[in-house]
Amino acid sequence: MTDPRPTVYVETYGCQMNVSDSELMLGKLAAHGYDAVDHPDGADVILVNTCAIREHAETRVIGRLGELRRNMKPGAIVGVTGCMAQRLGPVLLEKAKHVSLVIGPDGYRALPALIDGARRGQRASATTFDLEEHYEDFQPRRFDNVKAWIPVQRGCDYRCTYCIVPTTRGPERSRKLADVVRETETVVAEGMSEVVLLGQTVNSYHDGESDFADLLRAVGAVPGVRRLRFTSPHPNDFSTRVIAAMATVDAVCEHVHLPMQSGSTKILKRMLRRYTREGYVECVDRLRSAIPGLSVTTDIIVGFPGETDEDFEETLSVVRAVGFSEGFTFKFSPRDGTPATRMPAELTVPDEVASERLATLVATMRAHSRVENMGLLGRRCEVLVEKEARRGGDLVQTRTRDFKTVLVPGDASMIGQYLNVELTGTTGSTFTGQIVSERRPLPMAG
Ligand code: SAH
Ligand code: SF4
Ligand code: F3S
Repeated sequence: MTDPRPTVYVETYGCQMNVSDSELMLGKLAAHGYDAVDHPDGADVILVNTCAIREHAETRVIGRLGELRRNMKPGAIVGVTGCMAQRLGPVLLEKAKHVSLVIGPDGYRALPALIDGARRGQRASATTFDLEEHYEDFQPRRFDNVKAWIPVQRGCDYRCTYCIVPTTRGPERSRKLADVVRETETVVAEGMSEVVLLGQTVNSYHDGESDFADLLRAVGAVPGVRRLRFTSPHPNDFSTRVIAAMATVDAVCEHVHLPMQSGSTKILKRMLRRYTREGYVECVDRLRSAIPGLSVTTDIIVGFPGETDEDFEETLSVVRAVGFSEGFTFKFSPRDGTPATRMPAELTVPDEVASERLATLVATMRAHSRVENMGLLGRRCEVLVEKEARRGGDLVQTRTRDFKTVLVPGDASMIGQYLNVELTGTTGSTFTGQIVSERRPLPMAG
């Protein structure tokens, strides 16, 4: 009798780049005879694909590794991959004896060999950056069958003083435009009509010949691509060419996630974000005047060293002036080795102050979204059905082009379809809608 195929379970933390990397790892392992399973108990190989962006992200993983150790099947191989693996390297092997493999974001090509080694009792840490590595020959095993995450750039060349990403993902490098187009054609052939281009500063994409404007035009021209998104752009990389491409490529959606981080020029400077408060607002204005109906979402950090009440007020005032549709807000978390940890101790913002600012910021953003969303009731728009609604019943979760979530009556058979809906209710953040008339997906010839 032959042995059954070994099984692998991957658990993913962090950003979409990590989700995409997990898809690549699963694809690689499937090609080497592994079956993916969606539960760790009983799996032969357990991979935890980690994030290091804030301390909390890492403590969660440490806790989770302990849990896995108690429940895993005897002899299972545990690997830690991703940004925390890159950051800690061999230290993780010392700290967690049940972990056999520590593999950074550029090391996934060696996964099958490293797992084989672990089976023979070897423990290994693989954290060398490989600036040529884009995993071009891997066939990702995608978790999502409506939208495809397509990495177009790895690493980051900015050096924001709070950020661990340049350390965990290395220098910026772009995939070749032709490779991105080929992957887009593949996902369309698999039935997907939405693609999301991924990079840490995705609009700084440059493959030596083509820039991000060329990339948007090329991907948008692939027949069958009906929605094109990207995350996350940096305000300094929105050239006139890129904005013109966004405005003219039909598939590019009317939404941009544009991390602001702070509304105080003094703090932005200390963060080394390389733009001022006015520069950020001007960037939003340029985007909005080129793309009617554009919704803008953002990331903001509170409690960065030296942030005074006045600085925080400046953040609130930009938040009110810009009118973000949604915001992801974080308390500053010092990351070992980043320049922000070397700032004078007296600049540290006490935790209670940071918490209070966070609450004020969240309330300010929510108040705006509520008003914006109430104003949209009665509107009709096109939505794409993404999945069954989490709260179950007979609702599906759909999304508008400008990134609003709309719950609509329906079932799993509608996933991947485009519908016309009327927005009938809102919780302030998400909507409920009624189907007005169904639309068929565009023919492949587009
Ligand atoms: N490359 C993206 C951001 C990736 S990290 C960009 O530059 O826009 C996602 C978000 O996490 C950041 O936008 C920032 O708001 C937050 N973040 C990053 N480092 C952080 C830290 N040390 N403490 C708190 N939040 C942080
Ligand atoms: Fe981090 Fe800044 Fe790079 Fe974004 S641009 S990944 S925040 S260093
Ligand atoms: Fe986290 Fe790494 Fe992404 S630190 S946010 S998983 S790039």
